[in-house]
Amino acid sequence: MRKRDVLAVVTASLLALAAAGCESGSDSGGGGSGGGKIALLLPESQTTRYEQHDRPLFEAKVKELCPDCEVIYSNAQQDQSRQQQQAEAALNNGAKVLVLDPVDGAAAGTIASLAKSKGVPVISYDRLIQNAPIDYYISFDNERVGQLQGEALVNRLKEQGKTSGDIVMINGSPTDNNAKQFNKGAHSALDNSGFKTVPTPDYFTPEWKPENAQKFMEGQIAQLGKDGFAGVYAANDGTAGGAIAAMRAAGIDPVPPTTGQDAELAAIQRIVSGDQYMTVYKAFKPEAEQAATLAVDLVKGNKPSTGKTVDNGSGAVPSFLLEPVVVNQGNIKDTVVKDGLYTTQQICTSAYTAACQAAGLS
Ligand code: BGC
Repeated sequence: MRKRDVLAVVTASLLALAAAGCESGSDSGGGGSGGGKIALLLPESQTTRYEQHDRPLFEAKVKELCPDCEVIYSNAQQDQSRQQQQAEAALNNGAKVLVLDPVDGAAAGTIASLAKSKGVPVISYDRLIQNAPIDYYISFDNERVGQLQGEALVNRLKEQGKTSGDIVMINGSPTDNNAKQFNKGAHSALDNSGFKTVPTPDYFTPEWKPENAQKFMEGQIAQLGKDGFAGVYAANDGTAGGAIAAMRAAGIDPVPPTTGQDAELAAIQRIVSGDQYMTVYKAFKPEAEQAATLAVDLVKGNKPSTGKTVDNGSGAVPSFLLEPVVVNQGNIKDTVVKDGLYTTQQICTSAYTAACQAAGLS
């Protein structure tokens, strides 16, 4: 009896599936709808931007511009070989465009070359794919990001009456081309400022992991002493969070000026409470929407011009580069709140009530 029931259910499901298959087959049978599959391949999810902003903004814009398009989404969780597999799967699945934010900008060249061999255009998203043929690059002026961080830090220290001392420098992942650009921009502001970055050579945080930054900072505190440094250059909010946790655990209070990037909610709250000095806001909406618009254009066979190019070691890549913005206590309202990234209610949870009032946020 039971077996027969199961069989009946299975048969019914198979029939339903076959019917659905026929239906969708006849629906798309006309073709020419202008749709197609677009792969969005993001690098990790410990940094909140990817799942909270980049992905939903990209998907919504594709849906708006091309209801017949489908986004194949994958997140590599910081694993380059996983990203390679995800890209291969997307290509096998019929992706007509790859929008790729590489875990490893150099190793991702293999993905770009594979796509090229299949005639599939590649958009390098936020991070540059190096030494391989790619069609477009969409990002921010990343050297400028580093420069803004460095300048803000020096200005803050000068406001505090300091003109010299060590700045502990915590850079991003050694496999991310952006990390090198942030570093270059930061050095342009920090070198010859009177302050000195430590250690030498520069430290780059494996996989951008906050816990790696935290461990590194613990080592620096042990070496330099609790009062042995004037400030901390952290390349993004995740690494800033790690560094601040290490300083707090060592009993450093208040923590010296510390930089960041991404305008993560936790970082905005640390800025409100005074634990982090600044972050760099890179508006996710124009970046994700530019990528989506371009991907849809490519699916439809259009190749828009950009006006700018960036050399990725394999040639001049048509590029869109957006402008980053500094966020500190004084302009949270005029930047991330105004842009609708967060409401003041989201920022000013009960733990931040007093700090929010003092900062004029509530
Ligand atoms: C991005 C940053 C991000 C970092 C870690 C960089 O390439 O530009 O916004 O914080 O990667 O994912």
